[in-house]
Amino acid sequence: MSAALDLEDVRKVYRAGEGEVVALSHATLQVGEDEIVALLGPSGSGKTTLLSIAGGLLAATAGRVLVGGRDISGATPGELTRFRREQVGFVFQAVNLVPFLTARENLLVVDEIGGRRKGPESRARADRLLEELGLAHRAGNLPGQLSGGERQRVAIGRALMNEPRLVLVDEPTSALDTRTGTQVMELIRTEVKGRGTAAVIVTHDTRMTRWADRTLHIDDGVLSAVPAAGPEGGDAEA
Ligand SMILES: Nc1ncnc2c1ncn2[C@@H]1O[C@H](COP(=O)(O)OP(=O)(O)OP(=O)(O)O)[C@@H](O)[C@H]1O
Ligand SMILES: [Mg+2]
Repeated sequence: MSAALDLEDVRKVYRAGEGEVVALSHATLQVGEDEIVALLGPSGSGKTTLLSIAGGLLAATAGRVLVGGRDISGATPGELTRFRREQVGFVFQAVNLVPFLTARENLLVVDEIGGRRKGPESRARADRLLEELGLAHRAGNLPGQLSGGERQRVAIGRALMNEPRLVLVDEPTSALDTRTGTQVMELIRTEVKGRGTAAVIVTHDTRMTRWADRTLHIDDGVLSAVPAAGPEGGDAEA
């Protein structure tokens, strides 16, 4: 069985003006088929860079990237577009819903762009997701007519529309209060686990890592394991 995501010694160097920024250095990471990994680290540590490389949005400078056992490191732009459409669900740091489409239409657009199922099957799927996410009563609202937490939930629904193998979530709770953030994290876990999908969830809030199976720390582009918390997620210190 192949891992949902396999990063092998991935390095990413950005060139900016005269200098360079090493955003990822020797990143090695395996995420199991139905595993949720939290990626915790300060601003500028390389979290979004790692997600972007894992999802085929950005090419690594060196190293190998395998998703579901398939090496995407040398893929053409066309292959990457298809790969993202079929295998990956993204929830970005800034929720980027289409402002002139309703919540429901923001989900349906995934199937339309993908040229996938259309019509009743698509609509039933969108409606089921909206229901699960507690948004059935907001299905006809535009993003501007939704709260921050509701918008984030629409973005989660949209990321699940293509039945992805790998869900990549960037700071899902940064703009939300603790209570709403907690609800959003619970929902992500329920939805991802219910589908047997893998997920990498980026955060810089340690409280949000308890919904993950495993937490990794990233600092200055270097990944390291975080020791497992004690029983019931209590602090293991002392
Ligand atoms: N396109 C780019 N060109 C040059 N440098 C970049 C580029 N994108 C990111 N960087 C730099 O790479 C490093 C990692 O950036 P990244 O966006 O991955 O951080 P992050 O951990 O997601 O931060 P945040 O928590 O603020 O979102 C930072 O030092 C950033 O300034
Ligand atoms: Mg980021």
